[in-house]
Amino acid sequence: MQVLGFLFAWLMVLNRPPLVAAFLGASQTTFDVCRTEDTAVRMSSSDTSTGSSRVTSKKGRLLVLGGTGFLGQAVCKRAALDGFLVTSLSRRGRPPSSGDQSPSSTNIKYLAGDAREKSTIAEILKEGSYTGIIHCVGLLLDEESGLGQYNRFASGSGSLPDSGSTYDTITRLTAFNAMDAAIEYAKENNNNEPFPFCFASAAEAGWPDMPGGSFVENNLAPDFLKRYLAAKRAVEERLQSSSSELLRPIIVRPSLIYTMDKPASLPAVGAFFIGNKIGLPFVDQPVTVQSLANAMVRSIAQKETRGILRFQEINAMSE
Ligand SMILES: NC(=O)c1ccc[n+]([C@@H]2O[C@H](COP(=O)([O-])OP(=O)(O)OC[C@H]3O[C@@H](n4cnc5c(N)ncnc54)[C@H](OP(=O)(O)O)[C@@H]3O)[C@@H](O)[C@H]2O)c1
Repeated sequence: MQVLGFLFAWLMVLNRPPLVAAFLGASQTTFDVCRTEDTAVRMSSSDTSTGSSRVTSKKGRLLVLGGTGFLGQAVCKRAALDGFLVTSLSRRGRPPSSGDQSPSSTNIKYLAGDAREKSTIAEILKEGSYTGIIHCVGLLLDEESGLGQYNRFASGSGSLPDSGSTYDTITRLTAFNAMDAAIEYAKENNNNEPFPFCFASAAEAGWPDMPGGSFVENNLAPDFLKRYLAAKRAVEERLQSSSSELLRPIIVRPSLIYTMDKPASLPAVGAFFIGNKIGLPFVDQPVTVQSLANAMVRSIAQKETRGILRFQEINAMSE
């Protein structure tokens, strides 16, 4: 059993692109900088898309926080294909391998900025016509774990934590900032419809509700996993207790996220499928990054979708 917590970290380590990519680091891009009073948001200079254009999509704009990430990139692509004008915010700005020249990619605007800064997200929303927010910001190994330097290997996109990157700041604080901004935005723009806010949580956040889950967490999970889950639960709790007139909470709880493009992760994915199949109640089936992205984007447009989505709902919604 003790293997499970360790396995969790190990599996995440496997779920990433070739290690050499991390050593090479993210590709360099230049940016135009537009500074407001206390925040800096930089727009990729190679972007020709939705910068200051008028909205031409019926679906409006979608803000994806962490659009350079493994999950965030898939969400941005899916949303652009579905007709949203997408704005991505992350520290790197553009994704590491953004050679995508497909027509839908021109509907993605990449901004470089830090979601920990209180006013960054509110500044972006001032552009108007936003119809939802998807939060994909995260990190798998934080500084306090003593393993932060290995996050570049654990992260599916080679994201590098900086000083002060803890689960509390990167997960909880960025989501709280986004919720604060979303609530203010909804007060002025919601037209009697709650503003959809979709948060990428984790299956393990639901352990207390599963037979054996609390035992695993209390006795076998490493300390860093407990802090990872505490941050996820803080966001889930606040999102679900926010005014239902202003925000529509959508919480996805994937276990492992995988793609067939990264075969190195498949043994780990197989182990999770087997664990779920033999009835371990605290092991959920992995989901593909494409299915999860589909479900998250669709949840924004489907007004009846709210609350927690586990792998069953994610797979059903993505069909
Ligand atoms: N991968 C999995 O198997 C898995 C399983 C369950 C849940 N999840 C959850 O899914 C979410 C996405 O995971 P992932 O696998 O896509 O991770 P990832 O590839 O490491 O992506 C993390 C994203 O967060 C962004 N980010 C980090 N610090 C930021 C900051 N201060 N301001 C703005 N953006 C910031 C990163 O961009 P920059 O580096 O450019 O800032 C990157 O876009 C996370 O919340 C994770 O906990 C993942």
